[in-house]
Amino acid sequence: MADRTPDIDTSTPHSARVWNHWLGGKDNYQVDRELSARFSEVFPEIGDLARTSRYFLARAVRYLAGEAGIRQFLDIGTGLPTADNTHEIAQRVAPESRVVYVDNDPLVLAHARALLTSTPEGVTTYVASDLHDPEAILRAAAETLDLSRPVALTLMQTVGHVQDYDEARSILGRLLNALPPGSYLALNDSVDTHEENAAATDRYNASGAVPYILRSPAAIAGFFEGLDLVDPGVVPLAQWRPDVADGDDATNAAAYGGIGRKR
Ligand SMILES: C[S@@+](CC[C@H](N)C(=O)[O-])C[C@H]1O[C@@H](n2cnc3c(N)ncnc32)[C@H](O)[C@@H]1O
Repeated sequence: MADRTPDIDTSTPHSARVWNHWLGGKDNYQVDRELSARFSEVFPEIGDLARTSRYFLARAVRYLAGEAGIRQFLDIGTGLPTADNTHEIAQRVAPESRVVYVDNDPLVLAHARALLTSTPEGVTTYVASDLHDPEAILRAAAETLDLSRPVALTLMQTVGHVQDYDEARSILGRLLNALPPGSYLALNDSVDTHEENAAATDRYNASGAVPYILRSPAAIAGFFEGLDLVDPGVVPLAQWRPDVADGDDATNAAAYGGIGRKR
């Protein structure tokens, strides 16, 4: 891509841009494509995994806006705009849905306009903020969302970037503590049970990009401790309420996710 703003670092791969390449997007640089190619040499199914994650996001948000009746969403680690962003899925079910996007990548900020295409009945806003500072995220989100009413937190393929497990648990706890009963956590992350994905992730983490930590399925399930799990629990993404609308490549099992409800 040609347009560059001064704070965009094109010498180091960035998660949002590498992920965009795996999803078939054009918002990435040579350094991202090179890392993507090195990753795919070892784990060629990474594109399937990325799409499987997006299908999971779509099913999760449809469930939350539909069956669960949620009208407020806080999507952290949004990524670059792509097909079917969270607000589009939610507002197709409930046009009055209010969605706050959060990411710390300057290129995501530069493209945020494409995320701010709300229905007239609803709202979408974008906050440039860091997951390591959940209180700052909550303060900014409160300008758009009523935090005394239920909110769905969505974190897709993002918590892996918090390297310390206890810190990741603490961040999720602090976010959920600020939300009322009836709020939800919807989360997915890649797991450490696939040898090739683990070897490819070692290459990723040696590249200078912010590392991504693969965790066990049990550790991913631990993120939901204290919440009531929605059936079928924390499972490989393709097993979470599969839908005929998913693509044929939605079978990749290298990531786990689920939805939990705050009591
Ligand atoms: C692998 S991408 C996933 C994007 C999107 N959630 C999806 O599933 O398609 C991870 C995203 O998390 C963002 N991210 C990583 N660390 C972050 C942090 N500390 N605070 C906020 N966002 C972060 C990255 O910039 C990137 O957009």
